[in-house]
Parts: sequence; structure tokens; C-alpha cells
Amino acid sequence: MSAKRIVIAGGSGFIGTALAKEFAGRGYEVIVLTRRSRVRRDGVREVVWDGEHSGDWIPFLDGAEAVVNLTGRSINCPHTPENLRAIIASRVNSVNALAAALGQVKTPPRVWVQASAVGFYGDTKNNLCDENSPVGNDSLAGICRQWENAFNSAVAPKTRRVTLRIGFVLGRDGGALPVLARLTKLFLGGAVGNGRQFISWIHLADLVQMFVASIENENLAGTFNAVAPDAVTNAEFMRELRRALHRPWSPPAPVFAVKIGSRLMGSEASLALVSQCCAPKKFLTAGFEFQFSNLRAALENLYPR
Ligand SMILES: NC(=O)c1ccc[n+]([C@@H]2O[C@H](COP(=O)([O-])OP(=O)(O)OC[C@H]3O[C@@H](n4cnc5c(N)ncnc54)[C@H](OP(=O)(O)O)[C@@H]3O)[C@@H](O)[C@H]2O)c1
Repeated sequence: MSAKRIVIAGGSGFIGTALAKEFAGRGYEVIVLTRRSRVRRDGVREVVWDGEHSGDWIPFLDGAEAVVNLTGRSINCPHTPENLRAIIASRVNSVNALAAALGQVKTPPRVWVQASAVGFYGDTKNNLCDENSPVGNDSLAGICRQWENAFNSAVAPKTRRVTLRIGFVLGRDGGALPVLARLTKLFLGGAVGNGRQFISWIHLADLVQMFVASIENENLAGTFNAVAPDAVTNAEFMRELRRALHRPWSPPAPVFAVKIGSRLMGSEASLALVSQCCAPKKFLTAGFEFQFSNLRAALENLYPR
């Protein structure tokens, strides 16, 4: 019997690299859709697509067990109207391209797992959001709404669908944590703004297992918050990060300094100032077991003493 195939669109990045390794280890044939393929020695095959149009990549979906879509231009840039358009287009176009492809293959994948983000809920202040909470009204929420609308309106009657609204993913080799860690080591790891905004984080290892569960557990369908059950305030997060990196104190970073710093780093200040307080209600109900449900344990794992 041939190996089950998983196609990971946008799988060359931070989360995709971890997923490819996990699924290859589980015996899957792993295909990564990328705009620029590289030769890999880990058994993962990269296939070129443009994230927008049909092409030679479509047959790889035929008979696949799963398709995962992680494609998206990074949100870590100034949120100018032009950048926001590009951020949304990269997400919506990739969903539409995959949906069109599914309509062209004889045996569509049994499951499609689509990335979204907890930015869906907008600025939640102190209110704990679950999957039934309404969409927010800031620009991140607008991105997620259009992204999820494209996915939900895709016609794929034979394919089970799961949306993961992902929180701040903690890993050593990508995402925003290494940047925060570098700043913290330079004694720039103080609370941001008033420090009361919430961060809904998740350890990369748990996120990977959420993708595994989404693919292998036939009972999972619909939208899930992919976050740890322990959302913390920014002040608490930065305190724990300083502790993990042996920096007992750093001056707090007032809003104006965050704005100047973000501009110098080519980033967007609102990403550090918005409050995202979310619970993984549906994963907990489904019996998902977290390896890292506590922030201190997650950071100690990533930065062992
Ligand atoms: N990391 C987090 O903390 C986090 C949190 C919430 C949600 N998410 C979402 O999860 C997904 C994966 O995150 P990640 O951290 O793995 O991101 P990543 O490392 O930036 O990977 C995303 C991939 O998307 C592809 N891509 C980028 N711009 C594109 C464009 N304009 N058109 C087509 N493809 C493009 C790139 O692949 P190629 O260059 O190889 O084509 C890239 O490897 C993203 O959609 C992200 O928004 C991530």
C-alpha cells in the first residue's frame, strides 16, 4: 500500500517546516507547495505553484489524504493600505486556487485544514473569546474575516474542513519569539504599553499536534482556536521571557517607544498592543491534551537552563 499523501501549501515557512517533519515521521508522503522550490534532503518534495493560478501542482491533490493551507504574506510589516491588500490577496487567492483545484481532481483530499488567526476576534480587551465569539472590527479581524469567508465558501462537498485560528506560536526557529528573545537579551524586554493586553500563545509542538488531530480525527470539523489554555497579559509574558533568558528587569516600553521601534524594525506597533484573550474551548471539549499548557513550562522547554 502506498503512503498517505499530505499537501502543505505555504509549507516552506516556520509552521510548515515543523508540520512536514512531523508528517514525514508519521510515514506520510509530504508535498510542499512553494513559489520557489529547493532541493531537500529530508524526503519532502517541493512543488512550484504561484499561490494563485492552476498549474502542474494540481494532480498532487488527487487522492491525497489531506491538504493544509498555511500560505500568507507575513503580517509583520507596516499595515499600510497597500500592504494590507497584499496580505489579504495572498491568503484569499491561495484558498481560491486550492478550492478550484479540488473541483478538478477525481478523488479530492479527505480533509482540508486551513490556517486563520485569533486576530479574527479583534481587540478582545479582557474578554475571554471562544470559537462562538463574533468577528472584531480592526484590520487584523478584517484580514481573517475575508480569509475565512473564502474558505467557507469553497465548494468541496467530499472534503472535511477544519479552520485553525492560530495564536502567537512559540518556537525557537521562526515566528516572532526569536525577535522578542533578542530584544530581551539586550535588556529591551519590558512590558509593552500598559502591559495589560492579553497574548494567546501556543507552543509549536502543541500546534503541530493540533494539525495532526485535525487530520487524523474524523470527528473534528469546523473552527477551532489553536491556543494554549493559559492566555497571559503582555506584562506577564515579558516577565516569564525575561526569567527564561536570565534578564531580571527591563524598563517598560511606552506606546510611543513601541511605535518608533516598530517603524525602525519595519513592523506594525498594533501587533504588540492589541489584546487577544482566547480559549481553546473546542479542542478542550474534544479532549486534546496539551504538552505545554503553562507559559513558564513552554519557555523553559524552548530556552532550557
Ligand atoms: N507564526 C504565527 O505565530 C502565526 C500566528 C497566527 C497565524 N499564523 C498563520 O499561519 C500561516 C503560517 O505561518 P508561518 O509562521 O509558518 O508563516 P511563514 O513562515 O511566513 O510561511 C508562510 C508561507 O507562505 C508563503 N507565502 C508568503 N507570501 C506569499 C505570497 N504573497 N503568495 C503566496 N505565498 C506566500 C511562503 O512560502 P513560499 O515563499 O515558499 O512560497 C511562506 O513560507 C500564515 O498564514 C500565518 O498568517 C501564524
